Amino acid sequence: MPKVCLIAGDGVGQEVIPAAARALGVACADLSFAEAEAGWGCFLRHGSALPESTRTAVATADATMFGATQSPSTVVGGYSSPILSLRRDFDLFANLRPSEGSTADGRRIDLLIVRENTEGLYSGREHREGDTAIAERVITRRASERIARVAFQEARRRALRRSTDSGSALLRPRCTIVHKANVLKLTDGLFRESCLRIAAEFSDVDCEEMLVDTTAMWLAKDPSRFDVIVTTNLFGDILSDLAAGLCGGLGIAPSANIGAGLAAVFEPVHGSAPEIAGRGIANPIGAILSAAMLLDHLQRTPAADRVRQAVRVALASETRTPDLGGASSTAEVTELICAQLG
Ligand code: NAI
Ligand code: MG
Repeated sequence: MPKVCLIAGDGVGQEVIPAAARALGVACADLSFAEAEAGWGCFLRHGSALPESTRTAVATADATMFGATQSPSTVVGGYSSPILSLRRDFDLFANLRPSEGSTADGRRIDLLIVRENTEGLYSGREHREGDTAIAERVITRRASERIARVAFQEARRRALRRSTDSGSALLRPRCTIVHKANVLKLTDGLFRESCLRIAAEFSDVDCEEMLVDTTAMWLAKDPSRFDVIVTTNLFGDILSDLAAGLCGGLGIAPSANIGAGLAAVFEPVHGSAPEIAGRGIANPIGAILSAAMLLDHLQRTPAADRVRQAVRVALASETRTPDLGGASSTAEVTELICAQLG
C-alpha cells in the first residue's frame, strides 16, 4: 500500500492539507498516511524548520503532500524555507504547474508550465558590493536538458490523454520553449540550445520558442495558444502565477515537484495566507488538485480523474470559498467534493 507523507506546515496549510488527505482517502482506498512537521511553527517548537524526522518521512514515503509554510521577512539565524530545502535535498528538479479552467470572460485555459526548479536566478548566489547588489543566474546544460525531457514527455502524455478522451486520432503534442535569449545570450542561450537539442529527440512534438515577455502577452490575450510551456526558474514562477490568476487565482492552483529519485512533493501554489488562516475559509481546491497530481504520480489515474471531475463540479456550483466570490467554508467545499467521490 503506497505511503503518503502529510506536511501541513503553517497557516492555511493546516486547513487545506487535512481537506486534501480526506479527498485522497475517499478517492483511493489503498493509501496509508503519515504526518510530519515543518515550517515556522515547527522551528519555534523544535529549533528546526525541517527536522531530520521529516526528511526521513519524505524519503521513505511514496509521495508527500505539503501545505505551505510561513517565512519571516527578515533573516532569522537557523531558519530556511522547508520547501526550498526539500527541492534541493531530494533534487526535485521539475516543478509542474497545470492551469485548467476558464478566464473571467469565458476563454478556455488548459496548459502546463514546466518550470526548472533548482537553478536560474534562484541559485542563491547573491552578494553585495557597497551600493551594488548582484545576483548570479546559473544555467547548466544538465538541468536544462533534463527539464526539457520532462516537458516533452508531459506534452506526449497530454496529447495522448486528449486523443483518448475525445476519441480522435492521435493529436500532435505541443511544447513552447520560453526564454529571453535575445538579451541573456549566454544563460538563456544555453537553455534554448539545450531544449532544442532534446527537441530533436522528440520529433513527434511540435516545438516552438517564444520570448518570455511575448509569452506573458499571449497568455493574457489568448491562453488557448499554449499547451506545455518549459522555462527557467524565475520565468516559470511568474508565468504560472499569471496563468493561475487568469483562471481563478492562487486558491485553486496545484503543483508537483518531481525528480529522478523516489521522493515527490505535491503542494498548492499558494503560501500560508496569514490574513485568512484559522477562519475556515481557505480554498482547499489547490491542495485537492495537487492530491490528484499525487494520484497520477502513484499511477492511480482513474482516482485522479475522479478527483478532478469532482473539483469541476464544485467550481461550477454555488459552494465556493470567498476568494472565488462565494460564502462557503473550507469544510463545505471539501464535503461537496468528497460527496462526488463517495
Ligand atoms: P499567499 O499565497 O499566502 O497569499 C496571497 C493571496 O492569496 C492572499 O490574498 C491570500 O489570502 C490568498 N490565498 C492564498 N491561499 C489561499 C487559499 N487557499 N484560499 C483563499 N485565498 C488564498 O502569499 P503571500 O501572502 O505572499 O505569503 C504569505 C506567506 O506564505 C509568506 O510567509 C510566504 O513566505 C509564504 N509562502 C510560502 C510558500 C510555500 O510554502 N510554498 C509559497 C508562497 C508563499
Ligand atoms: Mg510563486
